[in-house]
Amino acid sequence: MKFSLITFGLVALVSASPLSRRAVFSTSTYDDLSISGGVAGNAQQEALDKLSGLPSDLSTVEEADLDFLNSVNQIANDAEDEAFNTAIDAASGEDADALQRGKIKNKVLKLTATILKLQAQAAQGDDVADKLDEETTKLNNNISQDEEAAGLASTFLSFDATTE
Ligand SMILES: *[C@@H]1O[C@H](CO)[C@@H](O)[C@H](O)[C@H]1NC(C)=O
Repeated sequence: MKFSLITFGLVALVSASPLSRRAVFSTSTYDDLSISGGVAGNAQQEALDKLSGLPSDLSTVEEADLDFLNSVNQIANDAEDEAFNTAIDAASGEDADALQRGKIKNKVLKLTATILKLQAQAAQGDDVADKLDEETTKLNNNISQDEEAAGLASTFLSFDATTE
């Protein structure tokens, strides 16, 4: 009894300590992360929901979570090149348009991951201001494009990739 109380006390102490911070994200497949399906118009919120859970004090984001966000960017980029661009080239009419909307939503996911990473790096003292400006402009343009197509169908494409 005494032993287990001490153990409990230690566990409580360790959990409360800032040294025991744990990564927020865990390994995910591209398909689970994708927001490309459904309809256009709400990609910004959908991307933020997929990538939610970081501490509000971004200076405390774990290295593993920065790696995860980087990895989301990479697999979304690969999906764009290898899945969306190929399918769009082979499609026409409404099929091609819906694929294009799915591709834009995929870009919003990709750029949101990048920006969360850069914001955390900035909070941790890295000089990423120029990159952050550049990526934010791209994100805002892609969000506008998504919003212009609000309510129109967007196509999900399965892609075989997993975050590191
Ligand atoms: C959307 O983001 C990409 C980068 O992924 C960028 O190259 C492109 O210019 C952006 N789209 C618009 C309409 O700005």
